[in-house]
Amino acid sequence: MKYQIECSVCSKSSPNLLTFRCPSCGQPLDVQLHYDFEAGKIRKRDYTVWRYAEFFPYVKKAEIITLGEGWTPLVKLSDNVYFKLESLNPTGSFKDRGSTILISALRKLVKKAGGYLSEDSSGNAGASIAAYAARAGLRAKIYVPENVSGPKFNQIQFYGAEVVKVSGSRSKVAEEAQKSEKGKFYVGHILHPLFRDGIRSLAYEIAEQLDWHVPEHIYLPVSAGTLLLGVINGFRHLAKSNVIETMPKIVACQTRQVSPLYHRFKNLHYAMPEKITSIADALVSVNPPLLDLMVKNLREADGDAVMVEEDEIFNAFIMLARKGFFVEPSSAVAYAAYNKQLKNKETSKDDSALIILTGTGLKTMLKPS
Ligand SMILES: Cc1ncc(COP(=O)(O)O)c(C=O)c1O
Ligand SMILES: [Zn+2]
Repeated sequence: MKYQIECSVCSKSSPNLLTFRCPSCGQPLDVQLHYDFEAGKIRKRDYTVWRYAEFFPYVKKAEIITLGEGWTPLVKLSDNVYFKLESLNPTGSFKDRGSTILISALRKLVKKAGGYLSEDSSGNAGASIAAYAARAGLRAKIYVPENVSGPKFNQIQFYGAEVVKVSGSRSKVAEEAQKSEKGKFYVGHILHPLFRDGIRSLAYEIAEQLDWHVPEHIYLPVSAGTLLLGVINGFRHLAKSNVIETMPKIVACQTRQVSPLYHRFKNLHYAMPEKITSIADALVSVNPPLLDLMVKNLREADGDAVMVEEDEIFNAFIMLARKGFFVEPSSAVAYAAYNKQLKNKETSKDDSALIILTGTGLKTMLKPS
């Protein structure tokens, strides 16, 4: 068997691609790969995530649903600093890597059952799932908080998804999206193991674009943890397959307001804010369901965590824009964290670093002063 979907806690394997929780203990599932990465198996003329199709064996090639995601530019900022422009994916964020894999894997099953997709997110993931559902000819219902507004919400609607507004907390929105209804297939990006697994492609791409010499540090923003876990899994697969010599140090970057991983990782107490007012408005998971999994994986990968302040995020956002990189403030969190580590001498300009710029600035709610 080339892969197995199994529980991240009790290791029980899961029988089908639709499951998003362990049937035995309810914990998150993970895709386990039982084969090596081989550069010779890359589809060299395909400049999308699907150049790595061989390494996503649960998707049949004839069933791929793509909008041309992936193979995003990797730009050298200075001698030792690189940006990975995930903001240039089809819907404006890295989430398209998860959506293309997940919806390609499930389309036939959902279509055959005459069903529709359900997701909870008013942000980039909601927009991405809505776009890939449209491309796949599937109906999508996106559950959003009642007070939602802004460019991402507009984007979801333009893709033709049905929007269901839910009053109450963010977890209430997720609960409604998961409630079983006739024909409903829940594909929530946070819990679904295939969405997270699709993010593996980002690690493959970074390594290939740097000729299999990975940078010493990789900085990325963390909220629910799909980006973090996907990237760690991808690099781990490359290291186990002896395609890269060492794992890069993965640095999880969070805002002071939303920093449960940072606090847990550093063995500190985290007090949730009453209200989130951060300009990094995509990073809102104060109580992420994947927290245990994130801590375990970040520790095993010998990674690190950094927390940044609002002024540091804003400064990084402006610095990036003044260099020509227009990203959303949530993406600037990773650049802010890199600058903070430089300032605190926790890293040096001699260490190579790559910062993942996760989402486009064109969706930002900020106004220039
Ligand atoms: C632009 C952007 N960056 C980073 C993240 C964090 O990703 P994750 O929730 O997988 O930790 C998100 C999540 O919504 C996002 O939209
Ligand atoms: Zn289990």
